[in-house]
Amino acid sequence: MKKNNLFSTTWLLLLLISGSIFSCKPKNAGDAVSGDAAQQVYVAPGKYDEFYNFVSGGFNGQLSVYGLPSGRLLKIVPIFSVFPENGYGYSEETKPMLNTSQGFVPWDDQHHLELSQTNGEIDGRWIFANANNTPRVARVDLNTFKTAEIIELPNSAGNHSSPFITENTEYVVAGTRFAVPMDNDNGDVPINTYRKNFKASISFISVDKNSGNMSLAFQLRVPPVDFDLSHAGKNKSHDWFFFSCYNTEQANTLLEVNASQRDKDFILAVNWKKLEAYAKQGKGKKEAVQYAHNVYDETKHMATSTIEKQVLVLDAKDLKDVCYFIPCPKSPHGCDVDPSGEYIVGSGKLAALIPVFSFDKIQQAIANKKFIGEYDGIPVIEYEAALYGEVKKPGLGPLHTEFDGRGNAITTMFVSSEIVKWNIKDLKVIDRQSTYYSPGHLCIPGGDTKKPNGKYVIVYNKITKDRYLPTGPELAQSAQLFDISGDKMKLLLDFPTVGEPHYAQAVLASLIKDKSVKYFDINKNQNPYVTKGEAESKVVRNGKRVDVYITQIRSHFSPDNIEGIKVGDEVYWHVTNLEQDWDIPHGFAIKSVPDNAELLVMPGETQTYKWMPQKAGIYPFYCTDFCSALHQEMQGYVRVSPVESKVPLSFSTGKNLPDPATAPPLLDK
Ligand code: CUA
Repeated sequence: MKKNNLFSTTWLLLLLISGSIFSCKPKNAGDAVSGDAAQQVYVAPGKYDEFYNFVSGGFNGQLSVYGLPSGRLLKIVPIFSVFPENGYGYSEETKPMLNTSQGFVPWDDQHHLELSQTNGEIDGRWIFANANNTPRVARVDLNTFKTAEIIELPNSAGNHSSPFITENTEYVVAGTRFAVPMDNDNGDVPINTYRKNFKASISFISVDKNSGNMSLAFQLRVPPVDFDLSHAGKNKSHDWFFFSCYNTEQANTLLEVNASQRDKDFILAVNWKKLEAYAKQGKGKKEAVQYAHNVYDETKHMATSTIEKQVLVLDAKDLKDVCYFIPCPKSPHGCDVDPSGEYIVGSGKLAALIPVFSFDKIQQAIANKKFIGEYDGIPVIEYEAALYGEVKKPGLGPLHTEFDGRGNAITTMFVSSEIVKWNIKDLKVIDRQSTYYSPGHLCIPGGDTKKPNGKYVIVYNKITKDRYLPTGPELAQSAQLFDISGDKMKLLLDFPTVGEPHYAQAVLASLIKDKSVKYFDINKNQNPYVTKGEAESKVVRNGKRVDVYITQIRSHFSPDNIEGIKVGDEVYWHVTNLEQDWDIPHGFAIKSVPDNAELLVMPGETQTYKWMPQKAGIYPFYCTDFCSALHQEMQGYVRVSPVESKVPLSFSTGKNLPDPATAPPLLDK
């Protein structure tokens, strides 16, 4: 112990002198918050937040919606994961949303979100989401806050470099993280034939301007490296897309060592306009593949899943003027383009500087062929020829950068647990503030668009350690809100988040809130199983299939007594909520149904609950959403009889009364 003490003292002294004890481990947050922080984030009861913050849920496969500056959680939108809370992925109408070429995949890992844009500005219509595990891209409708569409991506594995969009939402791009043998090839090959048999893909999904409908327009076949992140150009760089990639060593084992060998990996610059033109000219090859395309039709309140069978593939090697590699130091992660479109910021996870590339210089380098050679048939631009400059000593472990719209960039430093503000023109560090701890992504409202709103930055931390009350081995994930309107960034608030937050987007609430759908018009409900009034409710048997057309209105079901169901029947409960009022969903659940959750039916909507009764008996069903003072009375019974029984099918509400002679005595006289 004594020896250790001596060592510790010397060590501590060294750290103190070098100052690194403060930069590596931030001081206690209590000291980091100034007195008026509470006032700045306080949103009085009954008042609205100024911004929506859409935060990826990571391994929960969902998107969560927070209000800012309060940090209040407003909603969780299920996208790639089933959600028992509202029946997403359980109801017959939503099950097709999670269909893939591999069957029903009820979970995913959701990392990045991107709001739709028009002319490089957020237009508040849709938000796109990537699925990292089973490669998929989703579109969430911001009128309903529901997932409207999911498209699967063939020839991909680990859809990480996604879903980033062009300035007018012409395309959503999706770069594969894992290189793999293509779907068409024989995948039964030794893993160490990676360099020969594995390839990578970048998918370009077109988005219909009016409906938002997505379609897999074409894929770019690229060398087998790992694509990490991306961002589209803006203004003069409008036609271009930039992708960070690592593992240019093309290693297939122990990547932490084997993919960190080279001093520089790459940013891939793709002229998507040219690529689009080549695709339209018929260059490229149609390949037979299989991928699911799932669309939720809100006129029917129902999804369909179609398996598509073909994709157009253009090979980067064959297109001499579309793709260029730019060397970027040490395992680049973030790849961010400033509001002017001139500066492309690469963030090497293991680099001690931040390289900033110039779009003009890249164009000149291409024109003057300032290449150091080719990588798998793609020209590699000289580092110096593309470089605008380097931010020196920014901190340790730069990951992601957003822009404040005042000529500054803010970058997260994972290793040194801080955010660092620097000037885009002179590349000088202006300010740094500790975060708690190990920040990954960050978000400024509109911070990756032409018009950032530089009021706040929200930082999403990977580790919370001592920040919240302990909750067992797993602690809450965390976001932190900073005021960035002044010279010094000021920590205002910690708020816990659900899942694990990765990239996020934020936008002024005024762009979205007034368009929010309040209820669905029952007269326009085109669900084939809709019941438009209680008089139409019924139960229909067709062999072993029974369809229950049941309605809900405060505070009863119609019908609420059903008999004549038999063991072995396949029963579909088509539940229509007749309410035409905001915020009056009704729930639906039957006692102890395996493989199902509840339904949460929105006003004017129809949702279907499948039930295969296994055992004779009486099964209660009830409303699960507290809808009125008599919510607890909103219930019913269904009788299940043995297969061979002759109990006739019957159904009613308020009519199936007991014999009056059996009434219990009244004792309150
Ligand atoms: Cu309807 Cu509670």
